[in-house]
Amino acid sequence: MNNFIYDIPVKVYFGENQLCHLGEELSKYGKRVLMTYGGGSIKKIGLYDEVVAEIKKAGLELFELSGIEPNPRIDSVRKGAEICKNENIDVLLAVGGGSTLDATKFMAAGAMVDHDPWDFLSSKWAPIEKALPIVTILTLSATGSEMDCGGVITNPETNDKIGRMERPMLPKASFLNPANTYTVSPYQTACGAADMMSHIIEVYFNKENDLYMLDCFMEGMMKTIIKYAPIAMKEPENYEARANLMWASSWAINGFVNGGKEHSWSCHPMEHELSAFYDITHGLGLAILTPRWLEYCLDDSTVSKYYQFGVNVFGIDGSLDKMAVAKKSIEMLSDFFFNSLKLKSTLSAIDIDDTHFETMAEKAVEIGGLKYAYKPLDKTDVRNIYKMCL
Ligand code: NZQ
Ligand code: ZN
Repeated sequence: MNNFIYDIPVKVYFGENQLCHLGEELSKYGKRVLMTYGGGSIKKIGLYDEVVAEIKKAGLELFELSGIEPNPRIDSVRKGAEICKNENIDVLLAVGGGSTLDATKFMAAGAMVDHDPWDFLSSKWAPIEKALPIVTILTLSATGSEMDCGGVITNPETNDKIGRMERPMLPKASFLNPANTYTVSPYQTACGAADMMSHIIEVYFNKENDLYMLDCFMEGMMKTIIKYAPIAMKEPENYEARANLMWASSWAINGFVNGGKEHSWSCHPMEHELSAFYDITHGLGLAILTPRWLEYCLDDSTVSKYYQFGVNVFGIDGSLDKMAVAKKSIEMLSDFFFNSLKLKSTLSAIDIDDTHFETMAEKAVEIGGLKYAYKPLDKTDVRNIYKMCL
């Protein structure tokens, strides 16, 4: 087991009726608050009014930036960074799903520099040494952005979608009220579940095999998602289901399960190219890619991990032949994504053909570090995996 540092200093207010602490959290950083949100779901669910009331009650000054897109665009980041500079913002409050949270993180970093925020993500890779403090109120369980220091931003002019993780962008506090996710559609609930599953699978299928305790933890989280996502889709106001999904989303990517694991992720770099070129929902792309990637990487050297996955997560009979269990585990994962979660199972079904596979494969390998992945992948491998998804 490799050495690692465990340090996740995000204060989490979990559950209902926690917004009474919002004023006190924001006030730690100053008086001028920039609240960011997406296309308006927070108004429909009444959360906007609640948040504004808390901010007013605390005597803080409120500024707003709305309209942050799913697969957030660099232009939104630019706007937010400008507001922070022009209005001397002290703290950012992101209210929404991963897209709003991600964009807000780069606004917070952009506020501290004179250059274009895209320089953080382009080949210039400008350093992110500081950022304004960020508080989040999560409304969709999926990305884990509420408890990690990462974000992923799209530049439609260059067909780039690039992620980066830097400590200064870690939220100071996050408010996780499962009831705020009651209105998330069955489709977005499914995509969120697929995203969380992928965050775990990317780490679970890893080169080291001596992290029994973390493997058990990850198996538990995957079972939790498999159990509760279909319930939340059928019964959107089932608190227990929403709560389990929300906490699993945070823990899937907050740095705990990957402690000590040397790895580069595989499906995420491939998916980011799909959303960069076709603006699809991140979790949907991952659901289509993950079973094909698993199929592509299965051989005698990897079969044991698949066997463990099949037996411990899907309850497949361990007395069967190892390779048979491995193949069955991929079938069961596909069944979860495409039957239980009702997600489309191929790229053709979402009108994606092979037009850009060559460029996407090249970019996924170059940007995503795929040669350091669980099974090192080059451009031909990635193209083959995309083709398997057609
Ligand atoms: O914009 P609004 O009106 O808020 O509507 C959103 C949006 O249309 C809606 N929604 C959110 N909360 C809702 C709701 N609708 C009804 N009721 C609610 N309570 O859902 C739609 C999707 O929202 P979005 O924020 O885009 O979804 P998600 O949380 O899945 O975020 C996806 C983005 O996060 C990135 C993805 O690549 C993608 O760009 N990721 C971020 C990561 C990170 N920070 O660590 C890791 C992930 O792997 C991922 O790459
Ligand atoms: Zn993801």
